[in-house]
Amino acid sequence: ERVVGIIGAMHEEINSILQLMTDVKESSYGMRTYYTGIINGVNTVLVFSRWGKVAAATTVTSLIVKFNITELIFIGVAGAISHQLRIGDIVIAERLVQHDMDARPIMERYEIPLLGVTYFEPDTKLVAIAEKAIHATLDNQNQAFIDQDKKDEFLLTSPEVYKGTIASGDQFFAKQVDKDTLLSNLPDSLCVEMEGASVAQVCYEYGVPFVVIRIISDESNENSAINFADFIINVSSKYSHEIIKNIFLL
Ligand code: ADE
Repeated sequence: ERVVGIIGAMHEEINSILQLMTDVKESSYGMRTYYTGIINGVNTVLVFSRWGKVAAATTVTSLIVKFNITELIFIGVAGAISHQLRIGDIVIAERLVQHDMDARPIMERYEIPLLGVTYFEPDTKLVAIAEKAIHATLDNQNQAFIDQDKKDEFLLTSPEVYKGTIASGDQFFAKQVDKDTLLSNLPDSLCVEMEGASVAQVCYEYGVPFVVIRIISDESNENSAINFADFIINVSSKYSHEIIKNIFLL
């Protein structure tokens, strides 16, 4: 039986996605609240992962072993690393790397010990579905679900969709120098966040297909913390709602 796990990395995103679910039941486990229910006829389990690799890895493990999910959607915000990206753009992971994994000289830098893997790859079918759902969200509705003053505040003129590499690690990027270092070490990184590649590792180990979707909330520099909460409450949680809704319509 198909059961779709949905992890959000922000409370506000969970609340907005929860509006899509019917027959909701709540259960608590390991300091997480799991919402089981139905979105457009499909069994789903929604949970707030909290932040960081351990929080996300343990949450997805619970989804797999306790809630028997058969696929996973992770949605959240990320800081831009590539200079092409603007606030409000959306990234779908094609590869995920743990930028803080470094077991040199025993392993190559970034290699996950004992897996012999550096990059984890999401499921291509889920990526294709996410891409369609995001285009539907951005194009057809002209982002009418976001207040005009917030579009102006965050300069959301015409958000773009990117597919590529996401770097994850236990660090919030708020200094230009750290951003520059990451970009020179992992030059194909589109954006940085704190969960995706750990979720990807667990899904890889359990053989569960997954996709990671990230809305760019900041530029991973000294301005990152400014307006962060405001962006999540007014912009990214609305995107999350629409994107998840569209995924289940496809
Ligand atoms: N998630 C959103 N913005 C981020 C940043 N600047 N660094 C790490 N994770 C993030």
